[in-house]
Amino acid sequence: MTITPLMPVYPRCGFRPVRGEGAWLISEDGSRALDFASGIAVNLLGHGHPHLTKAIQDQAATLMHVSNLYGSPQGEKFAQRMVDTTFADTIFYTNSGAEAVECAIKTARAYHQSAGSDRFEIITFKNAFHGRTMATISASNQEKMHHGFSPLLAGFKYVEFDDLEAAEAAITDKTAAFLVEPIQGEGGVRPASEAFMRGLRDLADKYGFLLALDEVQCGVARTGALYAHELYGITPDILATAKG
Ligand SMILES: Cc1ncc(COP(=O)(O)O)c(C=O)c1O
Repeated sequence: MTITPLMPVYPRCGFRPVRGEGAWLISEDGSRALDFASGIAVNLLGHGHPHLTKAIQDQAATLMHVSNLYGSPQGEKFAQRMVDTTFADTIFYTNSGAEAVECAIKTARAYHQSAGSDRFEIITFKNAFHGRTMATISASNQEKMHHGFSPLLAGFKYVEFDDLEAAEAAITDKTAAFLVEPIQGEGGVRPASEAFMRGLRDLADKYGFLLALDEVQCGVARTGALYAHELYGITPDILATAKG
């Protein structure tokens, strides 16, 4: 049996884009298609946006990479801008949405463990998608993502999405955080109810653990607000943001 050089992990369709212009994708055979998917909700400014392209070109020509052991004027500038525009006090940069969620999971555990507590369990919600690293597939109940990769990481508990009673029933003295998409993306573009999101915030406060939001697909102005949680009138403790 032979395998293609590009590992065949996705059922790719016949459309093969090689270029993008605004909302259009141009295939290698010259055909054009309106891009309603934007990656999977990644290219919020369309393809080849002049401001974004110039910023990437300028930075690539100026400085591509330095070690984390040096100071980072550019990193500090953007982190300050994020702190000024969001609820956050501090920012950790990652390369992808899955890594942002990994960071959220690690931060939730580290928060409790650095305070001498042994809380580690993360309560997540059925049909969630949090990425494809070992921790983020373990954070989802979707078996198609687990297939072939067992054993999963321990410490995740899945409950019904938008069901506050189920969420409360899953809490133990080991609960470190809820991890939830305010609007499930891959799960079918399902917005959580206001009562659910506010209820999760209240439960986390009542039982002394954290509320971590995955806004990788619904954040960065896709709902009209910069982040979806603003429209729910709640503030998370940790936010994973990416894609857009
Ligand atoms: C809600 C959510 N979280 C995490 C991820 C993972 O992001 P990435 O593909 O950048 O690793 C995705 C990707 O679709 C997502 O929709």
